[in-house]
Amino acid sequence: MSAADRPHSHHPPNSATGPDLAGFRALVAGGTGNVGRRIVSELLSVGATVAVPSRSQEKLNGLATQLELDPEARTRFIAVPGNLSDEDDGRRIVREVRSTLGGLDGAAASLGRWVAAPSLLAASRDDLEAALEDYLLAHFAVARNVIPVLEESGGSYALINGPLAFDVWSPESALVSIATAGQAMLAHALSKEMEARDGDSYVRVHEVVIHSAVGWGEEAEKRSPLKPDEIGRYVALLLSERGAGVRGERVHLKSPDQLAELAT
Ligand SMILES: NC(=O)c1ccc[n+]([C@@H]2O[C@H](COP(=O)([O-])OP(=O)(O)OC[C@H]3O[C@@H](n4cnc5c(N)ncnc54)[C@H](OP(=O)(O)O)[C@@H]3O)[C@@H](O)[C@H]2O)c1
Repeated sequence: MSAADRPHSHHPPNSATGPDLAGFRALVAGGTGNVGRRIVSELLSVGATVAVPSRSQEKLNGLATQLELDPEARTRFIAVPGNLSDEDDGRRIVREVRSTLGGLDGAAASLGRWVAAPSLLAASRDDLEAALEDYLLAHFAVARNVIPVLEESGGSYALINGPLAFDVWSPESALVSIATAGQAMLAHALSKEMEARDGDSYVRVHEVVIHSAVGWGEEAEKRSPLKPDEIGRYVALLLSERGAGVRGERVHLKSPDQLAELAT
């Protein structure tokens, strides 16, 4: 069976404004973050039910306030306190989400933490471990916890990455470059593993490399090719049935044309 023929979650694409994802069950790991929050917001705005795990109840409360949801949308926002990147707690979270939502049709993982060092040679082993922990290892754990639930419905999975995975911009960014380069290969390996699958347990895996600034202030966002909300929209579309036509597991998101292509 070719990738194009594989079964996908059965939610119909709809209008010019975006997919109607009423009934779509989503999880956004890192949904309290700069990028994740935009994905959560977009998914909720097109009718999906969205579970957002976070290690911080405070961040979840802040997110609920920022989203400014009407009472109906509020019922579709499921805050789940806990650590999805922890083996045991992650399993508990996924069990809870599965039992509340009845399963998952799509998930995005937008994880990380800026770890800077004056130079690579001046960095400590602890610094590198911190970067590996919050990018590579967190993605590994989250994928292992979440993808088995997506396998039940033939869902989709998007890992968010940044350009530092492919280039080092300054000595300070070397640690993040190293960790996110590993993350890129993790995404590639996951995608290849899924391509080798037959039948219903196939999960469509994409890596979205964002070439825009999100949460770095108005000026930086103005200079970026896509605005934060457009990035959220792109990922929501990619997770939906419309994303089934996107070729290649890695998308370098650099142009509004890519969004327009997916939206029409
Ligand atoms: N912001 C940008 O301009 C930009 C540009 C290009 C690419 N990106 C990429 O987008 C992704 C997210 O960046 P961001 O700016 O949104 O980051 P952020 O605002 O710092 O949010 C990161 C999220 O990751 C979660 N997280 C971090 N370490 C974790 C761990 N060990 N276990 C579980 N969750 C963990 C945090 O969840 P908690 O709620 O549990 O703390 C938080 O919600 C990164 O891959 C980054 O490279 C960002």
